[in-house]
Amino acid sequence: MTSNGIRIAPSVLSADLARLPEQVEQVLEAGADWLHVDVMDGRFVPNITFGANMIETLRKLTDKPIDVHLMVVEPEHYIESFAAAGASVFTFHPEATIHVQRQLDAVKQQGMMAGLALNPATPLAHAEEVVDDLDLLLIMTVNPGFGGQTYLPGSNKKIQRSRALLTAHGARCFLEVDGGITRQTIAAAHQAGADTFVAGNAVFASADPAREVQELRRRCMVTA
Ligand code: DX5
Ligand code: ZN
Repeated sequence: MTSNGIRIAPSVLSADLARLPEQVEQVLEAGADWLHVDVMDGRFVPNITFGANMIETLRKLTDKPIDVHLMVVEPEHYIESFAAAGASVFTFHPEATIHVQRQLDAVKQQGMMAGLALNPATPLAHAEEVVDDLDLLLIMTVNPGFGGQTYLPGSNKKIQRSRALLTAHGARCFLEVDGGITRQTIAAAHQAGADTFVAGNAVFASADPAREVQELRRRCMVTA
C-alpha cells in the first residue's frame, strides 16, 4: 500500500542477514514500498557492504522496487550488472564519477530510474545542473557510511531548498532522504518536502519492524 504519495524504504543494511527473507516479508507486509540497498566499497565511504548478489537475493523475494544507493567510486562499472540483478533505482554520488550526466543517461538506458545523492556538505547546485535528467534526488541527512547515525539538524533546510528547486523546474522526481530517519525526525523531513524515506535502524533495530514501518508512515500522514 502506498499512502498519500509517501514511500517508506527500509534499508537492509540494518537487517539481520541470518533472517533476511523473514524480515523482508515482515516489512513488505506492513506496507513498505521500496527496499533500500546500500552498496559501499571501502573507498567512497569507509565501510564495505553488498553487491549485485544482494540485489539478486532480494529480487527473488519481492517484485517491489529495489532502491540501490551506491556509495562507491566509479559507479558506472555497476550499471549493467545491477540492472541485470533486478535493481529498480540506481543512485550514485556526483563526487564519485567524472561524467555525471552521461551516467544518468546510461542508468536509464538500462531500464532503471536514475538518482543522484548529495552528501550533507555537497551543494544542491550539483543536482540543479542535471535536474531534468533525474528520476530521484537523494538528500543525505547523515554523512554516509554507517547505519544508526543521528539526523543532522541542518537537513530540513536543505530538503526545503531541494523541494523548491524541483518545483521551480517542474521536475517530476522523487525527493528521498536517508540517514537518521526515525519517529522523531520523519515528520519534519516530510513537512520540508521529502516524499521517500529510507529507514534502517529505526525499522530493523526495533522489536517490531512491521509496526515501525506503519508508525513511520503514520507520522507523515498526521503532518500531511
Ligand atoms: C548510510 C546509508 C543509509 C543507512 C541508513 O550511509 O546510506 O541508507 O542504511 O540507516 P539509518 O536509518 O539507521 O540511519
Ligand atoms: Zn542509503
